Amino acid sequence: MITLENITKSFIQDKKEHKTLQNINLNVNKGEFLCIVGPSGCGKTTLLRMIAGLDFPTSGHILEGETEISGPSRERGYVFQQYSLFPWRNVLDNVAFGLEVKGLEEEERYQKARKYLKMVGLSQYELSFPKELSGGMKQRVAIARSLVNDPQVLLMDEPFSALDVQTRHKLQEELVRIWREEQKTVIFVTHNVDEAVFLADRVVVLSHGPGKIIRTFNIDLEKIRDRSTPEFLNLKKKLRVC
Ligand SMILES: Nc1ncnc2c1ncn2[C@@H]1O[C@H](COP(=O)(O)OP(=O)(O)OP(=O)(O)O)[C@@H](O)[C@H]1O
Ligand SMILES: [Mg+2]
Repeated sequence: MITLENITKSFIQDKKEHKTLQNINLNVNKGEFLCIVGPSGCGKTTLLRMIAGLDFPTSGHILEGETEISGPSRERGYVFQQYSLFPWRNVLDNVAFGLEVKGLEEEERYQKARKYLKMVGLSQYELSFPKELSGGMKQRVAIARSLVNDPQVLLMDEPFSALDVQTRHKLQEELVRIWREEQKTVIFVTHNVDEAVFLADRVVVLSHGPGKIIRTFNIDLEKIRDRSTPEFLNLKKKLRVC
């Protein structure tokens, strides 16, 4: 579904070229839940932004199916590392934003937006404004706002990193449920190994500077996963020592 062929990415900093990513080769399958983990600064966000079409590789190719990615698309929804709601719009109008841009009539866009607000458990908050919501609720709205456009691929950049552990675990479970129900392909960036082992079908580990793929783990455990099983703990240990 998404293919990365020999990707390198460099940025110019202080008139010098800094290589951020090197030799990234990766195939993401339709319906797969892929996690990308790695230390801060290794290029995770850069990689996800390039898959989104918000930035471009210095060399190499990124394909969606057979087509080279040349810019953002509705088929690839993006959930940002930081909260990214429009503060002047209420929850319903935040979620319905993409449909408004698309030109849908109010009734249809609200009907669709409500379906996804229900899915993330926020039906009773549709008239609230972002400043009235907790961090976890804001990220739920951000997820609903991406899903409403019915993207094939959901790109998520550490969406739960600012949340307390209980809220984080709850949203992880909700995300697995939604991923199943909606049959999406998810590419999820995190530096939290527990999160990766809980969510992923496959985990790709990047090294620090320049980011390269150093390990890949397939995780065949049944979802929703039990964090206390020896298999779960063993996988976390293996990922930590990468
Ligand atoms: N637009 C830019 N211009 C210059 N350098 C950049 C730019 N974007 C990213 N970089 C550099 O690329 C490297 C990787 O950044 P990136 O944000 O992808 O890391 P990350 O793995 O997402 O880190 P974190 O876990 O902290 O979010 C960093 O050294 C950063 O300074
Ligand atoms: Mg990042």
